[in-house]
Amino acid sequence: MIDWPGLTLDENAEVFYYFSMNTDELRSKYIEFFISKAHAQIQGKSLLPDNDPTVLFTTAGMHPLVPYLLGEEHPAGKRLVDYQKCIRTGDIDSVGDASHLTFFEMLGNWSLGDYFKEGAIEMSFEFLTSPQWLGIPLEKLGITVFEGDQTVPRDEESAVVWRRLGIPADRISYRPRSDNWWGPAGTTGPCGPDSEMFIDMGKEPCGPDCAPGCSCGKWLEIWNDVFMQYNKTAEGVYEPLARICVDTGMGIERTVTILNNKKSVYDTEIFTPIIGAVEKAAAYTYGVDPEKDRSVRIISDHVRAATFVLGDPKAVSPSNVGAGYVLRRLIRRAVRHGRKLGIAGLVLSPLARVIIDQLKGPYPELVENQGYIIAELDKEEGKFLETLQKGEHEFEKLLPSLLKDPRKTMSGRLAFKLYDTYGFPLELTQELAAEQGFTINRAEFDEAFKKHQELSRSGGEQIFKGGLGDQGEMAVKYHTATHLLHKALRMVLGDHVAQKGSNITAERMRFDFSHSAPLGADELERVQAIVNEQIRRDLPVTMAMMSLDDAKASGAIALFGEKYEFQVKVYTIGDFSKEVCGGPHVEHTGAMGAFKIQKEQSSSAGVRRIRAVLE
Ligand code: ALA
Repeated sequence: MIDWPGLTLDENAEVFYYFSMNTDELRSKYIEFFISKAHAQIQGKSLLPDNDPTVLFTTAGMHPLVPYLLGEEHPAGKRLVDYQKCIRTGDIDSVGDASHLTFFEMLGNWSLGDYFKEGAIEMSFEFLTSPQWLGIPLEKLGITVFEGDQTVPRDEESAVVWRRLGIPADRISYRPRSDNWWGPAGTTGPCGPDSEMFIDMGKEPCGPDCAPGCSCGKWLEIWNDVFMQYNKTAEGVYEPLARICVDTGMGIERTVTILNNKKSVYDTEIFTPIIGAVEKAAAYTYGVDPEKDRSVRIISDHVRAATFVLGDPKAVSPSNVGAGYVLRRLIRRAVRHGRKLGIAGLVLSPLARVIIDQLKGPYPELVENQGYIIAELDKEEGKFLETLQKGEHEFEKLLPSLLKDPRKTMSGRLAFKLYDTYGFPLELTQELAAEQGFTINRAEFDEAFKKHQELSRSGGEQIFKGGLGDQGEMAVKYHTATHLLHKALRMVLGDHVAQKGSNITAERMRFDFSHSAPLGADELERVQAIVNEQIRRDLPVTMAMMSLDDAKASGAIALFGEKYEFQVKVYTIGDFSKEVCGGPHVEHTGAMGAFKIQKEQSSSAGVRRIRAVLE
C-alpha cells in the first residue's frame, strides 16, 4: 500500500508515452469499461463519512462501501464501479513538494462475493493494455503481489494469473505486508493482500534488487487490486469475511500525469487552470522561483480540497474540531501562501470559482453549493487575515530576542502564547520560525496546550451535556426540550447541526449549535412548530444502556469527540429522537407546555444560540 495521490517524476525519467487523455476521458472510459463487464455504476459518496468515528474524511473509494464488503447486500448488485472524491491529510505538511495532494479522485470497481483474483486481474489487465482502453504497452507494466507471512500465505494465485496474461516473471515482485496489504483507513474493517500495477518509467534500475514496487522512481504505481478476505476486529483479530470481495483503486490525478507524459501532476490540465489563476493574481510566472512555486502548489491543492469539503452535501464549516479544523487549516495555509506571493485582496474564492467550473460536470454539488463555498471561504479568509496581522506582528516583536538564542530554538510557551492569545496556529509559527532558521520546542508547546485544555475542561464542563445540575421539574422539562430542539434543527437546517452546549435554569433554556448563518423567521417558525408537534403527540421517553458503538450504530446522536469509558445511556423520544445523554428526562412529552423560541443570535464563530421557554 503506497500513499499515491499526486505524482512528480524523477528528473531522469524517460518519457515513453505520448498519449492525450484528460481526466474526463479517463473517468468515462473506466466507468464504460466496467459497465461493459456487467458492473453497475453507483454514485460516489460524501467526503465526510457516515457513522465512522475513526476517520475525518473519506480516504478511498472502498470507504463508503465498508458495510457491503462486510456482508450487507448492495441494492445495485454484486459488481459495482464508481468514482469517489477523497481526502488524505496524513501528509498535509508535505503538500507543496510537487507530488503530494490532499484532495484527489479515485476510480474503483468492486466484486461483492462475485469474481475474485483471477477475474479482477484479467479485467485490470485488459483495461490497462487493450488499445481500445488505455493501450499501455505490455513491456511497460510491472506487478507486485503479497509475499506472505505467518498469518496469510504467499499470493501465488495472483502471480500465476499475471504470468498467464504475459507479464514476465522478473517483472512480478513479491513484497511484504508493509507494501502489499490494504488495511482500512481506521483501525478496524475489511482488509487483505493486494496486487499493485506499476508503469516502468524507463529509468535505469537503481541496483540489482530494483523491481516493481521499488521507490527509486523507476516504477510508478497506478492501480491497486485488493483481495478482501478478512475483517480486522477492534481486538486486532483477523476474522475471515463471510464472502470474499475485491476492492480496486486507481488515482485519477497520477494516472493522468503518467498517461500524458507530464513531469508533475501540477503540469496537467487538472492544475493548469488553477495555477493560471494564481499566476494572474500574483503577477508571477510558475516555474521561475522554486520557493514561490511551492506556494503556488500549496494554494492550488488546498483550495481544491477546501472547495470540495465546503461543496459537499454534508459540508462542515471551518472550526476548531474534527473535519472543520482540517478545513480551517487548509484555508489558512492557502491564505498565508497567497500573501507570500503578494496577492492582494481575496485569494481563495476566485480560485474556487475556477475549480467549480472545471469539475461541475462530475460533481454537480459544487454548483448547487457554490454560494456557500464562496461565502465561507471569504468569511474564513477575512477572519484569518486579522489573526495573521496580529500574530505576525507579535512574532516580529519577539524576533530580536529569539535571534540571540544560539541554540536556535523558540520556547514552546511562547509559541503557545501566540496560539492562545492571538489564535496564531502552531503550524504557522513553525513556518515563520523555520524561515528564520530555528525550531520550536514542541514538547513544551504540547505541555502548555495540555494544561490549558485541562483548565478549560474543568471550567466548561457544566455547559455540556452529560447531566443536569438542577434536577427540578422545570429543568428536567427543559432538558427534554433540548433533545426535541436538536432534532428539529437538524430536520430544518440539515445534519451539520450539532449541539455545542446548553444551559438550563428553571426559567428558560439556552441551546448552542453549529450553523453558519442566522436563521430566518420561517426557519424558526418551522423548528418551533416541529417541537410543539412532538409535545402534542405526547411521546414516551425511554432509556437504554449500551456501548457507544452500538449507540452510534442505532443512529443515536452523540457529540463528536465525546469519550465514554463504559456503557452510555441512550434516550429515545418516541419515533422522533435518539441521543446519547446522561439524563434525566420527562417520561412523556405531553406535559411540557408550549415551546417558544424567544431569541436567536450568534454565540461564537459558526455557532448559533437559541433561547427558548416552555409556557
Ligand atoms: N482501497 C485500495 C486503495 O485505496 C484500492 O488503494
